[in-house]
Amino acid sequence: MKILIINGPNLNLTGIRDQKNYGIISLDEINAQIENHADRFGVSVGFFQSNSEGDVIDAIHAARSDFDGIIINPAAYTHYSYAIRDAVDAVNLPVIEVHMSNVNAREEFRHKSVIAPACAGQISGLGKYSYIAALYALTEIYKNNSK
Ligand code: DQA
Repeated sequence: MKILIINGPNLNLTGIRDQKNYGIISLDEINAQIENHADRFGVSVGFFQSNSEGDVIDAIHAARSDFDGIIINPAAYTHYSYAIRDAVDAVNLPVIEVHMSNVNAREEFRHKSVIAPACAGQISGLGKYSYIAALYALTEIYKNNSK
């Protein structure tokens, strides 16, 4: 099983920007920890980060041929990108939306995700563990579906 982890705009600055909400470790360090867990779960992972909406959409489309599921942190696009939502809808893969911060405890505009309704589920507020929890869930869902 192969899972693609997609991170949207500004998440390349994780560890530097807004440490109160996003912590002090970098995206590369988070990805390394995700990779360790992937080994334990017996799955492989790929990573993609972009600050551009079109590139995120292209990565979702391309995942159709190489991956069995997607974990996406669409960052600010979460709240208004119907184009990313439609891309998630268009690919026949399980997708979990994740957020490091608890979006429901923050500004009103962060409470709404236009993408989550097209996803299998959403995990928010667990820092780096949002990704790891999503990875665990996708692994289990895949195992049970292939039984
Ligand atoms: C975020 C939450 C978004 O509202 C914000 O725009 C981000 C990061 C999170 O991981 O908590 O850039 O997706």
